[in-house]
Amino acid sequence: MKEKQAKETPERTGKLTAVLALATLISAFGSSFQYGYNVAVINSPALYMKAFYNDTYLERYSRPMEESFLTLLWSLSVSMYPFGGFFGSLMVAPLVNKLGRKGTLLFNNIFSIVPAVMMGVSEISKSYEIIIVARFIVGICAGLSSNVVPMYLGEISPKNLRGAIGIVPQLFITIGILSAQVLGIRNILGNDTGWTLMLGLTAIPAVIELLLLPFFPESPRYMLIQRGDEKIAKKGLQRLRGCEDVDAELSEMRLEDQSERAEGRLSVLALLSKRSLRWQLVSIVVMNMGQQLSGVNAIYYYADSIYAQAGVKSNDIQYVTVGTGAVNVVMTIAAVFIVEATGRRLLLLSGFLICCAASALLTVALKFQDSVAWMPYISISCVIIYVIGHAIGPSPIPYVVTTEMFRQSARPAAFMVAGSVHWLSNFTVGLVFPFLERGLGAFSFIIFSCICLVTLVYIWVVVPETKNQTFLEISQVFAKRNKVQIKLGDSDLPLTKVGDVGSDGEKVTAF
Ligand SMILES: *[C@@H]1O[C@H](CO)[C@@H](O)[C@H](O)[C@H]1NC(C)=O
Repeated sequence: MKEKQAKETPERTGKLTAVLALATLISAFGSSFQYGYNVAVINSPALYMKAFYNDTYLERYSRPMEESFLTLLWSLSVSMYPFGGFFGSLMVAPLVNKLGRKGTLLFNNIFSIVPAVMMGVSEISKSYEIIIVARFIVGICAGLSSNVVPMYLGEISPKNLRGAIGIVPQLFITIGILSAQVLGIRNILGNDTGWTLMLGLTAIPAVIELLLLPFFPESPRYMLIQRGDEKIAKKGLQRLRGCEDVDAELSEMRLEDQSERAEGRLSVLALLSKRSLRWQLVSIVVMNMGQQLSGVNAIYYYADSIYAQAGVKSNDIQYVTVGTGAVNVVMTIAAVFIVEATGRRLLLLSGFLICCAASALLTVALKFQDSVAWMPYISISCVIIYVIGHAIGPSPIPYVVTTEMFRQSARPAAFMVAGSVHWLSNFTVGLVFPFLERGLGAFSFIIFSCICLVTLVYIWVVVPETKNQTFLEISQVFAKRNKVQIKLGDSDLPLTKVGDVGSDGEKVTAF
């Protein structure tokens, strides 16, 4: 144990070399950016795309599409994306071991370029089915990259930079959302001639990544441990660190590998049946469901229709949408600085509280918008406050806490569970929200408000602060709830500090 803790404090501090910085930027732009871009891309051109669906149907069957069928097709077009994401996240483990981390990122671009072409030709070939299928495939791309980029970056960066570099993917996701919102402005591409191009543009980051990433090293850790190729691992590490002497870090990798092997790996099934981890597991499931079912992606998928409902003038909607995207980027940057100071629990609680209040107030504002002239401003403020609340806590923290509640041996399985819950909840919101909106109108947000409240209460009662806690301390908090005894010196519970977000490379994450 002593040895492990000594290792935790780095004697040498790694520099941010040009190779490392460029590899980070290229993989985050090539993969994470696309994830965010495809979340928001169908929002602005929704009107024109629906008209295309309707026209196509009219031409084929000589009668206009029924309203309810159009709603169904549209919510499928939106939600096939997170549904594909679910499949993508299940494909992570086999692919990263077979093709490597960089290899998977390169391979993954098939799932981006093929659907980009499909979406680009959908209008000419007069088929909305193509769009729906393409959304599923590009979802696979997102599911894969949401896991593999953090893994690749975690493995190529030196310990002291892992935390900072670990934020870069999340930042590029929000930048991707913002870019799609900017391109969606009516005068740019959000019009009846531009939308196919806008959907197809996702191929550009993919092509850039395909052209540039091959010049950067594969994860040295993967080359050394999975492939046993010491020479390439060493060469890659030398380029990443910008110095010749990397033997210490290589042997450190080997040591880590041995201790991980000794611990063994917990399968998902074993995790589900492990009593001492039961409430930790329930907690990450609740937090990931709360994160998605609180409706954050409803705002990005359907922003324009929400603002239209809130009485914003149709020409102003695009700018309000861009404004929310910008707030999201700024708050994501801010969250990086706040999270280490305040701890996780406070941010989660205040984030969900803000979202709960904002969506409740939004319901009221929507209800009275016809009778009071300035209500649209209140509605817009509510959405922006909601986005701020979500960006400081519910968006980034569940991922941090999942890393901290589980040890190395259980973490891949825990992330697999968290990732599946994340994508399936995301899918549910994408599919159900248009029907909610049609059926309940203003009151659809009351549901999100309640979900935030329930999650808030759960966190208040069950989830302990995990910042700067050892794994033993965290499991002792949970021990009573799990009705298990914690014995000191139990080999199951080593005293490793888990305060550092990016403290290991075997993380599988999903945003
Ligand atoms: C489809 O188009 C027709 C004719 O342009 C229109 O009358 C009808 O309202 C449209 N249907 C929907 C569901 O928008």
